[in-house]
Amino acid sequence: MCSILPMLSPQTTDRVREVADIEDIVNEYVPLKKKGQNLWACCPFHNEKSPSFSVSPAKQIYKCFGCGKAGDPIQFIMDIEGMSFTEAVRHLAQRYGIEIEEERERTPEQRRALSEREALFMALNYAKDFFIDQLKTPEGRAIGLSYFKERGFTPEILEAFDLGYAPDSWDALLTAAEKAGLQRDVLLKAGLVLQKEGDAERVYDRFRNRVTFTIHNVSGKPIAFGARILTQDKKQPKYINSPETEIYHKSDVLYGIFQAKKSIKAQNNCYLVEGYTDVISMHLAGVENVVASSGTSLTENQIKLIKRFSNQVTVLFDGDAAGIKASLRGIDLILEGGLHVKAITFPDGDDPDSYARKVGPAAFREYLAQAPKDFVRFQIDLFQEEAAKDPQARVALIQTLLTSISKIGDG
Ligand code: GTP
Ligand code: MN
Repeated sequence: MCSILPMLSPQTTDRVREVADIEDIVNEYVPLKKKGQNLWACCPFHNEKSPSFSVSPAKQIYKCFGCGKAGDPIQFIMDIEGMSFTEAVRHLAQRYGIEIEEERERTPEQRRALSEREALFMALNYAKDFFIDQLKTPEGRAIGLSYFKERGFTPEILEAFDLGYAPDSWDALLTAAEKAGLQRDVLLKAGLVLQKEGDAERVYDRFRNRVTFTIHNVSGKPIAFGARILTQDKKQPKYINSPETEIYHKSDVLYGIFQAKKSIKAQNNCYLVEGYTDVISMHLAGVENVVASSGTSLTENQIKLIKRFSNQVTVLFDGDAAGIKASLRGIDLILEGGLHVKAITFPDGDDPDSYARKVGPAAFREYLAQAPKDFVRFQIDLFQEEAAKDPQARVALIQTLLTSISKIGDG
């Protein structure tokens, strides 16, 4: 593991500027249509119904006449992926097969100039590799790997999702990371280690004795972890997650988006589930267009993220009617975001993960194909039992439906 972050050579940036094609790049996010000299689409950066976002292949620039965002291919990647300049150049270099030249010599000035963000990305990436490696130790195999195997996770799945194991130790990651040259304050800011209360000098690993789920951003960089307990200890939380950091804003992130985005686009549909294991089990069942909100209610930014790849969301609800009613706000938010919504429920007590394992991949896929209800039908069915008996409940149902319908922008 390298301990200092290499810098990009100006030649690499120049090559990227020569080769990157704005039309190609933008087309991956929003479909462009030709009109006159330019290409047009609905702007990916703000909500609109008719296209004011233009791309000029001749000038290799984009410009939105609605919100004013404009720039070259590198700027576009910075805007849409939320990347720094260097990250965007690296991203495009990789995409176009351009060799990334690093500048080895660095002045103290340049060292200081290394952004905190990049240092955090490095720390997260180090931790990801560390947790993956721990699955290969005797402890990791006996505890972590055997747990994953029991759940039916294949080696390919472990690799695709960067699953790992945090050993039963107070400082395994801290010690290894410091030895590799990572700064303690960076590890703290990355949320990987914690300071003991009342004794800031005492620092210890946040994730211990748990299997780890790497959370990636949309371009595949590790930005956080979820970690699941392996015992039945009811006094401890089942999952521990990274805190909010400079590079991890929980409400902007969807678990699995990196692994799902291609399929979401190809299927023009995104399944939305609750948990890490639901996402993984669905991949195992051959359904890859799936992301999880990871136990929080859906946010506007998460919906925008889905919208880059598809205009339809199918929400998979587990649990009882009361729990589902509590999360109906999510449906309204999706409608407000201008997406089509369908909903699927699972039998009481089953989540997508347990259901997929219960019925097997083929029957599970069949269920997904048969079960979707549009949101009106879904809400009627949900409230039907009480509405049949109680006129007030009937009024409430109609109000709920009208609220949802009023969120649809399309008259
Ligand atoms: P398994 O029991 O391993 O199948 O996980 P699950 O995904 O089915 O868990 P569950 O349905 O209980 O929770 C759904 C999601 O909520 C999880 O994937 C987590 O993201 C989150 N979650 C669950 N328990 C906790 C917890 O104790 N703390 C936090 N912060 N998040 C949790
Ligand atoms: Mn589960």
